[in-house]
Amino acid sequence: MNKPFNVPVEDLERAVTYPTEAFLSRDYLEAEKHLLWPHVWQMAERIEDIPDVGDWFTYNVADDSIIILRVAPGDGAEALRAFHNVCPHRGRQLVNTPDGVHSVRGKGRRNFVCGFHGWTYDTSGANSYILDPQDWGGALNPECTSLTPVKLGVWGGWIFVNMDLAAEPLEAFLGDAGRILSHFALDKMRYKWRKWTVYPCNWKTGLEAFMEPYHVAGTHTQLLAYGDYYAYSKAYGMHGVSGFDQRNPEFQMSQSSSVTRAGKGDDPRRSTYELIRENYETLANAASTETLVNAASRLVDELPEGTPASEIIAHWMASARRDDAARGVIWPEIPPEIMAEAGLAWHVFPNMSVLHGITFALCYRARPFGDDPDQCIFESYAIERYPEGEEPVTEWEQSEPTAENWGSVLAQDFSNMQWVQKGMKSHGFRGPLPNPHQERKITNFHRNLANFMGRGAVSLLDPAKR
Ligand code: FES
Ligand SMILES: [Fe+2]
Repeated sequence: MNKPFNVPVEDLERAVTYPTEAFLSRDYLEAEKHLLWPHVWQMAERIEDIPDVGDWFTYNVADDSIIILRVAPGDGAEALRAFHNVCPHRGRQLVNTPDGVHSVRGKGRRNFVCGFHGWTYDTSGANSYILDPQDWGGALNPECTSLTPVKLGVWGGWIFVNMDLAAEPLEAFLGDAGRILSHFALDKMRYKWRKWTVYPCNWKTGLEAFMEPYHVAGTHTQLLAYGDYYAYSKAYGMHGVSGFDQRNPEFQMSQSSSVTRAGKGDDPRRSTYELIRENYETLANAASTETLVNAASRLVDELPEGTPASEIIAHWMASARRDDAARGVIWPEIPPEIMAEAGLAWHVFPNMSVLHGITFALCYRARPFGDDPDQCIFESYAIERYPEGEEPVTEWEQSEPTAENWGSVLAQDFSNMQWVQKGMKSHGFRGPLPNPHQERKITNFHRNLANFMGRGAVSLLDPAKR
């Protein structure tokens, strides 16, 4: 077997399986409400979405709703506050979050007034008004009358929250994923578009459809014309990465595991362009940029036939970097060894996926929808590096999962997800058999999930017992 770089041998040799209840069971979904969501760091929103003091939004997951509010200028967590969206008096939501609403948002917030009995809270979460407090005979104190705080962190331009005040710091949680991806200056990118839908599959079924390129040969067959999709995957603690694997050493370079890699065939000048163009056009103008596509289109004119793939990529990157600099988009310097380690796409536990480039990222998130294990809120969004002042104005757009709305590649993914959800219910299904080399991210996800949930352990595959 062709072994990719930096994947431990023992990981490659493990064929494993795990139970389907994580996808199918109502009881499991209910348990997630207690064991997973209240104890894990999770991305709430991009910080650029609340630029002004007083801007706020709700982040809703399972039965919990959290209010996140900007209280000061700045890019760090200290400029923000997060509270549970519940009044400590009798439990009314401070901000109504009707089912099927993505998030509730507003500006200029100076306090929160509960609609039931009028108790009021300032932006620090402290209670500032109670009707007839003397009736409690002095028993009330700030402990019981202030909003319940939620832990906050900011990384890569994303606001993360954790309901568990004893949780480890965000940076420690992100570990190597944070260390490696921080080089990409994701915090300087801005939304290009963002979409969400309620989709008929479990949130894990949805997320996992985007966690490995192993499905490209079966699902996105049109993409095979210009590139190979053989991939490695690797666990980094709670998180995991996949990248294109390189069987041909001539193509082995720091970019070769990423989406900005060389195309296959006799003339990589042409196939590199076709590969990135096809990706860009069929992924709703994501997973690349116009600058990169245009620079790739010139390769055939700017380089002689027979130029080695590594030089083609170096030339492409240099000319795109120049083109971007000319319009005020400055690329971060990413050391080649970090570029190589960064791969194609990361899973950030539990429910975030980031396919990153130097000037863009295509991201996914999935969350439960109501109490139904067969439904999820599925989201995809693209972020990109823009010249200052040229960032598009975007908002979350509820969008039916069609090719017209999401691009043909995502529509192909959508065309599997609900049928995986149905198929896994079959009495003939013995449990998932993830590819030990290419789908290790998924296995790692289930290992870590089982730690939170105390059930659903990943076990070595023993064909004799199945
Ligand atoms: S429930 Fe909020 S003031 Fe009574
Ligand atoms: Fe796909």
